[in-house]
Amino acid sequence: MILVLDFGSQYNQLITRRIREHGVYSELHSHKLTAETIKKMNPKGIILSGGPHSVYDENSFRCDPEIFELDIPILGICYGMQIMALHFGGNVAKATNREYGKALIELTHDPILFKDAPKNQSVWMSHGDKVMEVPASFQIDATSPSTPIAAMSDNDHKLYGVQFHPEVRHSEYGNHLLKQFVFDVCVCDGEWTIENFIDMEVEKIQAKVGDRNVLCALSGGVDSSVVAALIHKAIGDQLTCIFVDHGLLRKNEGEDVMKTFADDFNMNIIKIDAADRFLSKLKSVDDPEQKRKIIGNEFIYVFDDEAAKLKDIDFLAQGTLYTDIIESGTDTAQTIKSHHNVGGLPENMQFELIEPLNTLFKDEVRELGLQLGLPEGIVWRQPFPGPGLAIRVLGEVTDEKLAIVRESDAVLRAEIAAAGLDRDIWQYFTVLPDIRSVGVMGDARTYDYTIGIRAVTSIDGMTSDWARIPWDVLEKISTRIVNDVEHINRVVYDITSKPPATIEWE
Ligand code: XMP
Repeated sequence: MILVLDFGSQYNQLITRRIREHGVYSELHSHKLTAETIKKMNPKGIILSGGPHSVYDENSFRCDPEIFELDIPILGICYGMQIMALHFGGNVAKATNREYGKALIELTHDPILFKDAPKNQSVWMSHGDKVMEVPASFQIDATSPSTPIAAMSDNDHKLYGVQFHPEVRHSEYGNHLLKQFVFDVCVCDGEWTIENFIDMEVEKIQAKVGDRNVLCALSGGVDSSVVAALIHKAIGDQLTCIFVDHGLLRKNEGEDVMKTFADDFNMNIIKIDAADRFLSKLKSVDDPEQKRKIIGNEFIYVFDDEAAKLKDIDFLAQGTLYTDIIESGTDTAQTIKSHHNVGGLPENMQFELIEPLNTLFKDEVRELGLQLGLPEGIVWRQPFPGPGLAIRVLGEVTDEKLAIVRESDAVLRAEIAAAGLDRDIWQYFTVLPDIRSVGVMGDARTYDYTIGIRAVTSIDGMTSDWARIPWDVLEKISTRIVNDVEHINRVVYDITSKPPATIEWE
């Protein structure tokens, strides 16, 4: 394992990510870990990350100095290099201005981290302070016009520092450098895979749970499905899943979830048909935020009611991912967004949490799902909002309108899949704006609803662009929706990016 200590750089996750890509398990932890704890974790190498502070700031982050005496190879990146230099008696100059962006470095000899890489290479810099004098036992490995000590090392003690960010793709040989550190210096074996993650995690779950029982709120989404499948593999019938069907799911979704988990996986799964309960609460409500609130609260009440009927449950399983944890803020206090998995379950629930995916990234979770035998339809499922189709029926939600969105959405999904576009488009769905317009069908005048198609490309849903679906595919979708879905006489395509629009219409 390679331990990355977090000093608050925005690139920290990437370091862990890159190392795992080399088949070496890596975890990001607080810079506050003591040398004692680290010794117990027994990492093969330590990386000190970058950070937003100056080493001269009051209360700037420091690590336990004993870490440098553990005889474990250490790579300091940016801020990490500076605290290493200070620790061993080097000199760090306080910034007069920041250097940000591409820089050209030149190697001064043949350092191990740059083995087989060219003498001149471009790297990504993002720093204020810089090391101006290396400690006595170190030598300069690379230099640039603006940063005379761009890399340094004390090879005898396996200590290395780079002022630039090797984890960022703009650093041409950055990945190579991390690989050198991990394999040539730390001598990792590169055999970490999702398969051995499964074995390790199954053992951990069994040890933690013993003969007790676990409850899981299953939505049919990727994360909760993978959590359920993994825990089921570990403890079988000691796991009970609750699947709340709020009547706002897509066509066949409830049946598909039951088929996969109850029939194929043979799991204990309780399906709650709560459509009436949700729809009656939504009656006459047309404000989007109010709809969301009602659905969120009702979900908790339903779950709570069902969970209370179960006996002897000690654990609640959640599909928290590594990114959720990192984005919720670590000791470096750069909170990006707070994370509420399962829409905030009641605080008075006396469960211990079990979160077996909290060291994984989304793509690793997908791979895990496939390895566990989940169908591709679940593993590659597009994001679907908790409030479901209720926020795709604009205004008041009625049975008739839900049916229109559900049917048109099914047509859209079938045609996108038939055109082979389902992996390329990040999210796609239909919406029913509360408008009707005139049309002509057969020889008769119609006055019916308009359906909007929304299809976007995105990385994380924070920003998006509208998908350039080929005309002939759009034509087919439009024709089929008008022909197959009652009460639709017009189809429009949403060509706004986010921002200024959002992905959903409500
Ligand atoms: P927006 O519409 O904000 O959507 O651009 C970004 C992503 O978030 C999803 N979304 C939600 N997910 N509860 C959820 O669980 C919600 O209330 C909600 N609103 C939007 C949306 O589908 C898209 O993937």
